[in-house]
Amino acid sequence: MKIITIIGARPQIIKAAALSRAIANHFSNKINELIVHTGQHYDQNMSEVFFDELRIPKPSINLNIGSGSHGKQTALMIEQLEAILIEEKPEALVVYGDTNSTLAATIAAAKIHVPIVHIEAGLRSFNKKMPEEINRIMCDHASTLLFSPTESGYQNLLNEGFKPTEIEKHTSDNPAIFHCGDVMYDNSLHFASLSEQQSTLIKDLGLQKNAFILSTVHRNDNTDNPKALASIFESFVDIAKNGNETIVLPLHPRTKKMLDKSLSPKLLEAVNYNENIRIIDPVSFLDMIALEIHCKMVITDSGGVQKEAFFFKKPCIILRPETEWVELVECGAAKIVGTNKTLILEAFSNFSAAKNLSFPPLFGDGDASRFICEQIIKNFG
Ligand code: UD1
Ligand code: UDP
Repeated sequence: MKIITIIGARPQIIKAAALSRAIANHFSNKINELIVHTGQHYDQNMSEVFFDELRIPKPSINLNIGSGSHGKQTALMIEQLEAILIEEKPEALVVYGDTNSTLAATIAAAKIHVPIVHIEAGLRSFNKKMPEEINRIMCDHASTLLFSPTESGYQNLLNEGFKPTEIEKHTSDNPAIFHCGDVMYDNSLHFASLSEQQSTLIKDLGLQKNAFILSTVHRNDNTDNPKALASIFESFVDIAKNGNETIVLPLHPRTKKMLDKSLSPKLLEAVNYNENIRIIDPVSFLDMIALEIHCKMVITDSGGVQKEAFFFKKPCIILRPETEWVELVECGAAKIVGTNKTLILEAFSNFSAAKNLSFPPLFGDGDASRFICEQIIKNFG
């Protein structure tokens, strides 16, 4: 059977590696996967770097859509994806997460009756001002097979009217929902030892193991709100200066562009001329895993990095007013603080002193991708 996988943004390229690996290892005689890249992310270190390193088949097609407003970016993608789906006639379309690439592919496929497989279904922030919340709700409600990585995601789907019933073949009018573990956990398990063997980043940056903080910031609520961005970076200056802690920040291009624009000259100087704040370009996945394995704490607004912090048993301060990964907060391994400086510093100090944090096995057994392939074959094969 032929499936088309849509990727576009960095986390989707990484997630797709897990399914492509499962297909290559177990189902190469049953599934023919065609990868289409929308080009939503295009910098070398936001896209290309991942293909060789994670052994993902190169996309057969790259639409090179690039950046743009939500409407324009999504519309351009829909137009081109529709043509590809009509030409290729896949048995199913696989989409990941909640980006504009996910939404565009969903709309294109649903209207011409190509069944949709949504990986990372059911996640909700209950904040519809977040562009991703709209994308994921629309995608879930047009999908035929929905794979939730968490129990709470599965419950959200039940609460929205999906039924747990098992029938022989599912359609978009009788979709199937699964709680199946997380393909990102599959990846973290698979690539951790490779990262330990191959990544030299910790050494290259002269970092002491378990003695630095890893941070990422890219959420539009934070980058596009000068007050929020200033509060986050004032907190970093405080932690770096008063706490004498090293903070490593592989910075998303979106955030990099906003720092010069939004921070006051005084704060910008305090950030740029502080040897404890190490702003670096986005790193490869193996380097990122190395940072996650060897840091002592994570401060982030990324969905994926929150989870990876948990996989590698690191406490995580969440720079958002809510999270879809509620289990992390419930078990005490992560704390939601938004962008309030007092709360960020308080969480930092509490996690620095915390002993015996708990990281229960919440994300499956590292084989979610194989389960997903089996269900795709069962339903569409
Ligand atoms: C997108 C997703 C977000 C996801 C994130 C992962 C949407 C609505 N948002 O956000 O859910 O968490 O990807 O990283 O789909 N840019 C570059 N080079 C690139 C890519 C982006 O410079 O290769 C800059 C451009 O200025 C662009 C901005 O980043 O305008 C935002 O990019 P975009 O893809 O629209 O959204 P992200 O913030 O990356
Ligand atoms: N990541 C990476 N290099 C970086 C920053 C992040 O490889 O410099 C990886 C990270 O390990 C995770 C994914 O990118 O697997 C998360 O993507 P991102 O934070 O861009 O988006 P989100 O998960 O918030 O949608």
